[in-house]
Amino acid sequence: MIELKGLWKSFEDNEVLRGLDLTIKQGETIAIVGSSGCGKTVLLKHILGLLKPDKGKVLVDGIDINANSSHLFDVRKRFGVVFQSCALFDSLKVMENVIIGLKEHCSEMGLKKMEDIGKEKLDLVGLYSETYHLKPQELSGGMKKRVAIARALSMNPEYIIYDEPTTGLDPIMSEKMNNLMLRLKESLEKTTIMVTHDLHSAFKVADRISMLAEGRIVFDGSPREAQKTDNHWMKAFVQSSPL
Ligand SMILES: Nc1ncnc2c1ncn2[C@@H]1O[C@H](COP(=O)(O)OP(=O)(O)OP(=O)(O)O)[C@@H](O)[C@H]1O
Ligand SMILES: [Mg+2]
Repeated sequence: MIELKGLWKSFEDNEVLRGLDLTIKQGETIAIVGSSGCGKTVLLKHILGLLKPDKGKVLVDGIDINANSSHLFDVRKRFGVVFQSCALFDSLKVMENVIIGLKEHCSEMGLKKMEDIGKEKLDLVGLYSETYHLKPQELSGGMKKRVAIARALSMNPEYIIYDEPTTGLDPIMSEKMNNLMLRLKESLEKTTIMVTHDLHSAFKVADRISMLAEGRIVFDGSPREAQKTDNHWMKAFVQSSPL
């Protein structure tokens, strides 16, 4: 379980998080939605300990991740992250990108075993052996996202985080990405946090929708509740989003 308690974060005079509270339960898939620039990525970076709150706490299974640096290191290993930009290494081939975490943290495993795991994860996201030797610049946007997902899964994390998984993809690719996330949700049953301004994607994939605005969670409910709510934030967001 992840608990965000009274998080405040400013960058100079830009108050991005203003007393944000949110609990993410084990096994659920939550979508954190909100307009561009509202602080979704900043929120994710707090969950990963990449940013520290000015005030408030981030608890992962009851442990305050910012209490000491060894907690932070232990906690980070439990997350597989698909960054907004994919963050693939341009000089490395697909397979090398996927197994980079294993090389760093599990070197005793040997290359053969690492590549077997890499192959298993690439199979899972629907990428086949013809792609293993390609470099990121030779891949389409959708393929890059798949490689980033395979890499996020390589260390068998407890939590999966997707930051804007459909941004930059055309409608057909976006739908394929939604179907892939749904398939992984059903087969892996991992606690998943997706951050998106794509409401269609959130409705399709998530069990629960939380909306971030003005530095706080202003709506929290099921996709069905989100579609029917009178909450003015969520209602305006639904009306402005083509579904
Ligand atoms: N390291 C930083 N230093 C200064 N300001 C920052 C930093 N990171 C984020 N911000 C500011 O925090 C605000 C929220 O940014 P964030 O990237 O979280 O938005 P977002 O909701 O993820 O937007 P998008 O949907 O476009 O990805 C923005 O005003 C941004 O300029
Ligand atoms: Mg963002």
